[in-house]
Amino acid sequence: MIIRPETAGDSAAIADVIRQAFGGGNEACAEADLVDRLRHDHDLVLALVAEQNGQLLGHVAFSRLWIAQDSRRVAGVSLAPLAVLPEAQGRGIGRALVEAGHARLRDMGETIIFVLGDPDYYGRFGFSLAGARAFDCRYAGEHFQALRLASSAPEAGAISYAQAFNDLG
Ligand SMILES: CC(C)(COP(=O)(O)OP(=O)(O)OC[C@H]1O[C@@H](n2cnc3c(N)ncnc32)[C@H](O)[C@@H]1OP(=O)(O)O)[C@@H](O)C(=O)NCCC(=O)NCCS
Repeated sequence: MIIRPETAGDSAAIADVIRQAFGGGNEACAEADLVDRLRHDHDLVLALVAEQNGQLLGHVAFSRLWIAQDSRRVAGVSLAPLAVLPEAQGRGIGRALVEAGHARLRDMGETIIFVLGDPDYYGRFGFSLAGARAFDCRYAGEHFQALRLASSAPEAGAISYAQAFNDLG
């Protein structure tokens, strides 16, 4: 299995992986639409696919968000969504996508990633509820977590997600 950045030709297969992972079958799927919209809006910082024998098994999207601190605006990253085909789950593909993403984002100079998800799962990658508590965000709560990639990462602030998230409702 390889992990690589998504390419333009992957879009349809990615939407299919996301739909299947989130149980949408062929029907409309908010998470698949979200990724299409983030891509269209150029709000994706990084998007990776897991591929085996030419088949896409998983996908992760990292999008731009902004953190307002006093009069400054600092860049951050959102991890969402993460999707692995149901029949390929439990084989470490989710882990491989998240860890490869973090390594690349660190190399790109990103300092902080936020995720809304199960702390039991994302805690494995170093995300913490405590790290997100000082940030003001519409998703703040018992599933909102942060992972600092650099000591220069902001410690607090008001978070604005990409427009595609606002349009999710
Ligand atoms: C969550 C998901 C991406 C994990 O992918 P995966 O390739 O199965 O993950 P891994 O193989 O790296 O890890 C599997 C482990 O994660 C655990 N896990 C999976 N989903 C979990 C969840 N929602 N909460 C807690 N643990 C979870 C599994 O129980 C397994 O645990 P184990 O290692 O102790 O056996 C995949 O299950 C998926 O696509 N789910 C549907 C979509 C979704 O919920 N995405 C995340 C929301 S953003």
